[in-house]
Amino acid sequence: MSKYKILFKITGSIAAYKAAYLISKLVQNNFEVQTVVSESALHFIGKATLEGLSGKAVLSDTYENGKMMNHINLVKWADLVILCPASANTINKLANGIADNLITSLFLAHDWNKPYLIAPAMNSNMYHHPITKKSLGVLENLGVKILPTDSGYLACGDVGEGKLLEPDKIYNFILKSLLNNESPKGKILITAGATKEYIDGVRYISNISTGKTASAIAKILCEHNYDVSFLHSIDSAVPDCNFTEYIYDDFESLKKQLYSLIENNKYDFIIHSAAVSDYTIDKIETEGSSSIADKNAKINSELNSLTLKLKPTEKLLNQIKKKSLNKKIGLVAFKFVEQIDSQNPFIQVEKLFYSSQADLVVLNSLTDRKTDNTQRNFYLFDKDKMIAKNESSEKLALTLNECFQERIKNVTVS
Ligand SMILES: Cc1cc2nc3c(=O)[nH]c(=O)nc-3n(C[C@H](O)[C@H](O)[C@H](O)COP(=O)(O)O)c2cc1C
Repeated sequence: MSKYKILFKITGSIAAYKAAYLISKLVQNNFEVQTVVSESALHFIGKATLEGLSGKAVLSDTYENGKMMNHINLVKWADLVILCPASANTINKLANGIADNLITSLFLAHDWNKPYLIAPAMNSNMYHHPITKKSLGVLENLGVKILPTDSGYLACGDVGEGKLLEPDKIYNFILKSLLNNESPKGKILITAGATKEYIDGVRYISNISTGKTASAIAKILCEHNYDVSFLHSIDSAVPDCNFTEYIYDDFESLKKQLYSLIENNKYDFIIHSAAVSDYTIDKIETEGSSSIADKNAKINSELNSLTLKLKPTEKLLNQIKKKSLNKKIGLVAFKFVEQIDSQNPFIQVEKLFYSSQADLVVLNSLTDRKTDNTQRNFYLFDKDKMIAKNESSEKLALTLNECFQERIKNVTVS
């Protein structure tokens, strides 16, 4: 994520403590955060917490010596402004053009080319009060993005609307607002999860893939403003971001959708991390009779013997470059091995480069799989050498982003 500057305004609400989590998340994701608080906000959250998390002195005084022009300069500085939590009092003041503190003065000086988000937090009656409702409408018409509230238990003991939206969801709104102003960095298709080869309607052969790695990569690439399509198995993990979703079940449905997507869309990159079954059911032999798999049937569970005959599936990876509408598509393949060859890991991926024409291959191993089925340690190769070793999916995604940006530059130039 590039270094966006966030002007983070906090008003007097019991939910102010949740702002601390959000500020921390923003800073951890490389945002620069400047907090501005109302006098009331300081009854709910301390300056030490906010300065500690943001790394910047907390501002609240319009008339602070040497900083008298903050009410204008901070607007110029910021890429995005958020009021979180937004009290009923401040919402009503903003809608009426009252500028009696730094938060409200900054609003009157706001540059409407920049996103302004309001995350209300208040008791249900305050939220549904006709004046508050009217003010939210006025602000929305001005171009402010009013975030929804959650329903649930409120600090006053009531249950209803007005609860501050979960900070992780607010974070996603911030990202979306910032990225809406920029064109996407590239169009990516990511495949995820495991195929299921059905024996009958209730039994199947599958593998340990969870889609967690692909999902983590998709989330980071969404956050880096790629246009992400995610083709995943029914029970795969899915990223917590805005993506275009496609769902497959068995090998045949993955194949059909994958080919159709790459033949009809101009993807810049494809990350093919779905764990595709190498075999599918050919015949089922049961006590003298032979049949094919039938998803509408259930094989008797009291048979004395049942033999499955498997046949190999087509290597989808090897078809991607050939079938893709974009002949310059960047292909990232995954290779899963029992153990990484510590002396010469390149020999474990060499063949795959030839057969698939992949641009990058990620090598990972069974020995590096944690007990919760999360994969760690990803070795990334180009056609000549290992270019990175990343311990986590998130770090791998950041490396892939760098590789993709490099490739976009080269493809544009050539
Ligand atoms: C314990 C307590 C919790 C409060 N929580 C909220 C709240 O969640 N939302 C709200 O709009 N006002 C709340 N208020 C009232 C505001 O703090 C009050 O209206 C204040 O004047 C807001 O000032 P500000 O908008 O300048 O921050 C609360 C007050 C107290 C004492």
